[in-house]
Amino acid sequence: MKPFLLSLPLTTLLAAGPALADFDTARFIKGKCSGCHDERVYIRPNHRMQNLQQLEAQVRRCDANINTRLFDEDIATVVRYLNDTYYHFDK
Ligand code: HEC
Repeated sequence: MKPFLLSLPLTTLLAAGPALADFDTARFIKGKCSGCHDERVYIRPNHRMQNLQQLEAQVRRCDANINTRLFDEDIATVVRYLNDTYYHFDK
């Protein structure tokens, strides 16, 4: 019993390892993107984004504003997250 219990935190850590290294989209948006607007800006009835291209351009503009300098793949991840969570544009 004891060896099993002792090994538990280690396996938990190992399992969490790769996930921690990944870009945490939800946390990033909460932490970095809520300074000027919160998530209501994405779901307001008259939101300005009409398609994925606009959404990506806007995310790039906002990222440039705050100088977070996301890599392209992280921009893509944020766009995908916002689209999956709020906008639901056709891909
Ligand atoms: C420096 C202030 C600021 C920060 C920080 C900011 N934004 Fe924005 N964002 C704006 C402004 C201003 C608008 C336009 C709001 C409006 O049209 O009323 C906007 C609009 C948007 C929209 C379009 C909403 C719509 O109408 O559909 C998206 C998407 C967006 N921001 C994403 C982000 C993301 C992702 C981040 C974090 C990387 C972020 N913003 C951080 C200022 C900011």
